Amino acid sequence: MTESEIRTKLWIAGEWVDSASGSTFAVHNPATNELLAEVQEGRSEDIDRAVGAARAALASAEWRDINPHDRSRLLWKLADLIEENADELATLETRDNGKPYFESRRVDLPSVVENFRYFAGMADKVHGSTIPVAGPFLNYTLREPVGVVGCIIPWNFPLPQAAWKVAPALACGNTVVLKPAEQTPLTALRLGELATEAGFPAGVLNVVPGFGETAGAELVRHPGVDAIAFTGSTPVGKIVMREAAETLKKVSLELGGKSPNVVFADADLKAAVRGASTGIFYGKGEVCAAGSRVLVERSAYEGFVEALAARAEQMTVGDPMEKTTRLGAIVSEEQLDRVMSYVEAGKSEGAKLVKGGDRVTVDGKGNFMTATVFADVDAGMKIAQEEIFGPVAAVIPFEDVDDAIAKANDTIYGLAAGVWTRDIGKAHRFAHEVQAGTVWVNTYNQYDSASPFGGYKQSGFSRDLGYGAALDKYTQTKSVWVAVDG
Ligand code: NAI
Ligand code: MG
Repeated sequence: MTESEIRTKLWIAGEWVDSASGSTFAVHNPATNELLAEVQEGRSEDIDRAVGAARAALASAEWRDINPHDRSRLLWKLADLIEENADELATLETRDNGKPYFESRRVDLPSVVENFRYFAGMADKVHGSTIPVAGPFLNYTLREPVGVVGCIIPWNFPLPQAAWKVAPALACGNTVVLKPAEQTPLTALRLGELATEAGFPAGVLNVVPGFGETAGAELVRHPGVDAIAFTGSTPVGKIVMREAAETLKKVSLELGGKSPNVVFADADLKAAVRGASTGIFYGKGEVCAAGSRVLVERSAYEGFVEALAARAEQMTVGDPMEKTTRLGAIVSEEQLDRVMSYVEAGKSEGAKLVKGGDRVTVDGKGNFMTATVFADVDAGMKIAQEEIFGPVAAVIPFEDVDDAIAKANDTIYGLAAGVWTRDIGKAHRFAHEVQAGTVWVNTYNQYDSASPFGGYKQSGFSRDLGYGAALDKYTQTKSVWVAVDG
């Protein structure tokens, strides 16, 4: 892909436009730190313009009165276009984010296509119910769109995160202003363009890149926005909720995690080591559900630490476009600094660094680090409590089921959890007692458009994915009473 093919403007009302201020921001390839593009920077005037376009589209007969089967067809068509352009989108994603190309092309892109198809299937099944009520009345409910949805997404899975929000929002008949993360705005811009190519009316999906404190905050405050669907850090989630209160927007928050991946001694330990490794090292550990706390039963602890360290060793750091690369570039220099500060914290708090912990370059360039394993981690240490968002595993011993559950829940977060055991009773007990929105038994990091995903506790509320969750999040219910006695 040549530089000139990278979309760098704002996508508003089905057109490329410059930002009102004319200012731009630089987007870098984290694998080389070379400039990828200067992108127009959306600020409050641009958000206002995009919201105006989204409101106009919402009120237009073309979108408001569209036959639901046609809405479904548009989403299906968009899925087809994403599939046709998958090589380009995956390349763009890898250059923007630093993740290995096989992750972008073989995992992210197929899941995005499937996501649009799943919600295409939902688009003509958005309906209410008829409800028996007292008295001579017919009562029924309508499921109507919430209105204009502001979607704010992070940089770790730029296109999948856009899809998780945009697809169900459009399926339910809303219009959208999407603000991608400032680190990774490129695939979202292309998505906006493809939506228009698929036939969505202008203004149904607008994409405005910009910074969180300006473009993001303005979207949250804007009175023309009815709902905010946010994925990002817990501290920013709190700001979003506070700011959205002023205009009482419907808010959904998918936030950080410090997810426990719990291994009992009776587990298939080979499989558990593999699962613990992909649980924390897949996607460079820049995964909200990353199994960053690996809890291992005492009797299996030492061997497990050794085996996990051996797998960490196999996480080849390299050019994200290379087939052999397993660990790509950390998304930005700032993020690498943050992750390395946790490596330092782990060392200074007395955890045992058994593998990795090194900042490295590839061909003398880029923001890379090695897969890192800390053992003998105490539950109170920073690396056991705070979201690192990098390839750093904290391995913690536990004594028995009660201790495992207590330690698993010893966190402000509750996004996901894994458990490895051959004892079905133990597995189910853990699944019931762990405070997490997703539990994986003898597996980790599984996702499907049909299965809801989101957090307990300070990992947020509301769910992405799944028909029921989408209905709750992207529609509002109207109850209609009709007197039936003449
Ligand atoms: P962030 O939460 O600041 O950014 C996520 C999105 O929110 C971006 O689009 C950003 O522009 C936007 N944003 C930031 N401030 C905003 C505001 N005041 N109002 C509205 N939107 C705003 O995350 P950041 O700073 O990129 O990463 C910091 C840490 O957050 C990471 O190290 C990681 O621990 C955590 N994080 C967790 C994510 C998750 O999926 N759970 C995703 C991204 C970050
Ligand atoms: Mg931030």
